[in-house]
Amino acid sequence: MLRMRWELLLLAIIYWQRGHTDISESKQGHVSVVIVGGTGDLARKYLWQGFFQLYADQVGKGHTFSFYAGALSPDDKGTPMLFGILKELACPPELSAERCALVKEQFLHLSQYRQLKTLEDYEKLNQHIKQQMEQEGMVEAGRLFYLSVPAFTYADIAEKINSTCRPAADVWLRVVLEKPFGHDFNSAQFLAKQLSGSLKEEEMYRIDHYLGKQVVSKVLSFRKENKKLLDPIWNKHHIERIEIVLKETLDAKGRIQFYDQYGVIRDVLQNHLTEVMTLMLMNLPANLSNSEEILQNKLRFLASLQEVDKSNAVVGQYQAYNGEVQEELNKTKDYVSLTPTFAGVLIHVKNPQYDGIPIFMTSGKALDERVSYARVTFKSDTFCVQDLDNIQCKAKQIVFYLGHGNLQYPAILVSKNLFKPNLAGSDWKEVTEYKDVNVLGLPLSDYYIQSPVMPRDPYCELIPQILIGRKDSFISTEGLLASWAFWTPLLDSLARVFPRLYPGGGANGNLLNLQVRGHHVSFSHEAVVNIINAGAEENFQVMQGKFRSSDMVSAWTEELVERLASDLLLAAEEAVREDGQFHLALSGGSSPVALLRTLALNLYTFPWHNTHIWQVDERCVPHTGSGSNFRSVHDLLLQHIHIPYFNLHPMPVQLNQRLCVEEDGGPKLYEQEMKQFINASSFHYVLLGVGHDGHTASLFEDTKLDVDDERLVILTESPVKPHQRMSLTFTAINRARRVSVLIMGKGKHELLTQLSRIKGESTKYPITKVQPKNGTLVWYIDYDALLG
Ligand code: BG6
Repeated sequence: MLRMRWELLLLAIIYWQRGHTDISESKQGHVSVVIVGGTGDLARKYLWQGFFQLYADQVGKGHTFSFYAGALSPDDKGTPMLFGILKELACPPELSAERCALVKEQFLHLSQYRQLKTLEDYEKLNQHIKQQMEQEGMVEAGRLFYLSVPAFTYADIAEKINSTCRPAADVWLRVVLEKPFGHDFNSAQFLAKQLSGSLKEEEMYRIDHYLGKQVVSKVLSFRKENKKLLDPIWNKHHIERIEIVLKETLDAKGRIQFYDQYGVIRDVLQNHLTEVMTLMLMNLPANLSNSEEILQNKLRFLASLQEVDKSNAVVGQYQAYNGEVQEELNKTKDYVSLTPTFAGVLIHVKNPQYDGIPIFMTSGKALDERVSYARVTFKSDTFCVQDLDNIQCKAKQIVFYLGHGNLQYPAILVSKNLFKPNLAGSDWKEVTEYKDVNVLGLPLSDYYIQSPVMPRDPYCELIPQILIGRKDSFISTEGLLASWAFWTPLLDSLARVFPRLYPGGGANGNLLNLQVRGHHVSFSHEAVVNIINAGAEENFQVMQGKFRSSDMVSAWTEELVERLASDLLLAAEEAVREDGQFHLALSGGSSPVALLRTLALNLYTFPWHNTHIWQVDERCVPHTGSGSNFRSVHDLLLQHIHIPYFNLHPMPVQLNQRLCVEEDGGPKLYEQEMKQFINASSFHYVLLGVGHDGHTASLFEDTKLDVDDERLVILTESPVKPHQRMSLTFTAINRARRVSVLIMGKGKHELLTQLSRIKGESTKYPITKVQPKNGTLVWYIDYDALLG
């Protein structure tokens, strides 16, 4: 009786395990592996190595294999490419050279190239697999398609696989996909819907290579093996903060086509770092082999994240990025990309266990070092008065160290003042040799360290998981959408935010450090390096010369604008040094747009606090109107900088609820304001543009001015709409200490030719009357305008 009960119990356990685990004890047999995009970059770098490792591990263990590289080229081109790749495969470290040579020869023998372009090609592949099974009397176990192709082709290929390559009902089909899986929640949902027309959820394996990093794939096991020790401290009462960090020294050069559409948040935070955070903080599943339980816990965790918006994040962009975008995307020199290459986001979980713990998630390109880790820092209950080197006085932390950096190998480190952890698995070992390095503030000897016995590349870790159908190492549709649901509001709110520029590498200094106030995060240093001047001069290719007997600076548009911005900064610094303030008059129109953008993006050290902004001219429309010059200065510059309101001097075009009426005396008022603020009404700097007809400010050919006119501001009529304008006069302009005239674009070439022929003044070309009395005039002319 007892024995029967025991057997029933055993049966029940087996049944329960079957129902709740998904590691398929699928039938042994032949597996056809098809890498679509099999001669591409990813396949060349990682996938073939991963499948070779799989083959080497599996050989003689039951399964047999065929490997196909599918791509668009015809067979006679693709075949040599494939064998070129396969010849370079490295031997798995556990194989002797002799054995490896043998296994490699077999692997090459089992691999072939096939053109996979049309539906017919896929049909032929299907026929080929079927025939092979029949001819060789093999039992088919499964078909694995690895799509290593751009995401926009997924739906089409999945449809082709579905309609031509579906195996018999008892044979599995698994289709592996590489990110990006959408761009935001809606696009991810759309792509998922498209794919679901061809593939079942259990057939889709979305790769996130971070889930194949040895430390990441052991986070849950580590938590489980150390549950008793962790349970009391894995909560808001003991955890002070969490940092999830992926720093890279590499830039985005060469992959801007992809990167510029995505940026760092979509590229690594939404996927890799979110997965790491989730594994660290989700409820620990009772059964670590149960993908469904793991998924449900993941979803519950993602749903408990507090929504983030731009007040919880900072973004940056390395200085050279914009130039790379212009080059790789064939953009003009005034194109500005707002794509962030650095982001720091502060995340909070709203559940009783973690409520209030700040989680910093950070990643960036062109930083000082390559390293990725997740660190949990615990609150200290010790205040050391003496003996500060004692271990009890040091930081208490657990570090999931994914690789690179000081340590150079993946490891889990627990500071010795916490506890001695159990190993995360039988394939892990304790490390007791301490290199003389510091990891996150502590010497190695202050940690208990464990690391994998055999280092393995993420793809070599993940590919076998596909073979055994272990779905929790991949991204499910629900998990994917839950992550996008969290990140999309932040991405939307950042869409128009200017990233802080950083020079790259060690030169970033403290530029990207964060500061937290409540849930609000900002860069901790407002005024930082002057990027424009930072050694960039030698790259400028700026030409200096003379135009109409005054100095001329000429360069391609971008360099020219940077040079002008740089000169403006020098003028501002000099004025502030000498007079305590800098009075700058900006003209309207299209010429200063790129300059204002550059100022808003680049000049953290600009003395905005002491700068007064005046207008050279204004259209008689309300300041809030889209044609208003002040409005455009606001939109392009003022809203992005910290400048006191008292320092803004818009022209009073609207008085008594009407626009530019003579009797309201707007020009007089502006003149008085100038006299009140500026010594001798002499601006430090006036920035002008020139219209095609030779007008400058709002001074046109027909504008009536007496030679000895003492007025500084007047109302004028433009030949183009809106006709009414307010403008500084030549008297005001020519009193300035510095006047710059910015002329850009091929469209101005003709005008320049005319101007160069005119000696002295010409009524037809008002710009010729700009002749500062005691100041300097500099022409900034780009090569397009100069050369035509
Ligand atoms: C990739 C991103 O998914 O991950 C890259 O597209 C990034 O931009 C890379 O460089 C980082 O991975 P790893 O393994 O080098 O940390």
